[in-house]
Amino acid sequence: MVVHNLLPSPLRPTPALTLRVRSKDVVADGVVSLVLDHPDGARLPDWTPGAHIDLVLPDATTRQYSLCGDRWDPYSYRVAILREPAGRGGSAYVHDRLMPGDPVGFGGAHNHFPLVPSDRYLFVAGGIGITPLLPMIHQAASTGTDWQLLYGGRTRASMAFRDDLTDSYGDRVHLSPQDECGLLDLAAWLSEPPPGTTVYCCGPAPLLAAVQEACAGRPPHRLRTERFTAADRSAPVRRTPFEVELRRTGRTVTVTPDTSVLHAVRRAGAEVLSSCEQGTCGTCLVPVIEGTPDHRDAVLADHERAAGDCMMPCVSRSRSDRLVLDL
Ligand code: FES
Repeated sequence: MVVHNLLPSPLRPTPALTLRVRSKDVVADGVVSLVLDHPDGARLPDWTPGAHIDLVLPDATTRQYSLCGDRWDPYSYRVAILREPAGRGGSAYVHDRLMPGDPVGFGGAHNHFPLVPSDRYLFVAGGIGITPLLPMIHQAASTGTDWQLLYGGRTRASMAFRDDLTDSYGDRVHLSPQDECGLLDLAAWLSEPPPGTTVYCCGPAPLLAAVQEACAGRPPHRLRTERFTAADRSAPVRRTPFEVELRRTGRTVTVTPDTSVLHAVRRAGAEVLSSCEQGTCGTCLVPVIEGTPDHRDAVLADHERAAGDCMMPCVSRSRSDRLVLDL
């Protein structure tokens, strides 16, 4: 079971600001780090470990990236971006064209993967999945909480921040490059973790599935994962059109089976920021005033779905004839 945020989520993205690329550095094979600040040197919105930001790139695409810098630095954000040859072009833009001094739009900081109090943590990272875990590790270390990190990657050279981690934290950090060590030995790490251990995992879908399987007998709240790819979804509950009322805009639209709620409400004039459009990032979250959503995202926890007071319109639909959204 995937366990997500059990803390309140922001009800919608904050209005876009423009940030500036202060620096850009290669931190591993295929990974660049960006440090971003406000063009006027102003403070940036606060964030907590596990948060991501939405960046609106100069080519008008929006992408989400986990914050991996110092959460106590109010004047800059750091993100690290893997070049994804099979991606939609956002990472290629960052790697090839974005330069220090360039502006980037900022859609807000959100946290669907918060660090909850625990006696001890086991962090499991695969590749670029190390990024949301870095600030968690720093927080655990600064509060004196017991923790260990199991960090896998294709090769040692592809594993961002590996030297910083081993230099700072020594034998709490277990590096496992696949070309040297094979796949992560999850059975050894997860079969009998010490009591009170919460596992945080971020990485590619096969790693998440393997960790979930290895933790199958443990209480669900002891495993927290962040998913970068869409969860499997069954067919929508309802195959017929439904209506969506935009209460503040004063319009009602019909959503047919061949379009998403997101695209329908945008056509009706509502401004809703989006990023993944696969139900995995939480950027498009909108408040629901009336009606019953058919949740099809991988962000909301079970109790948030049951509450029915918000939804991800990029993938989620309606069980009822009508939804009323606070848009
Ligand atoms: Fe990512 Fe909707 S845009 S969840």
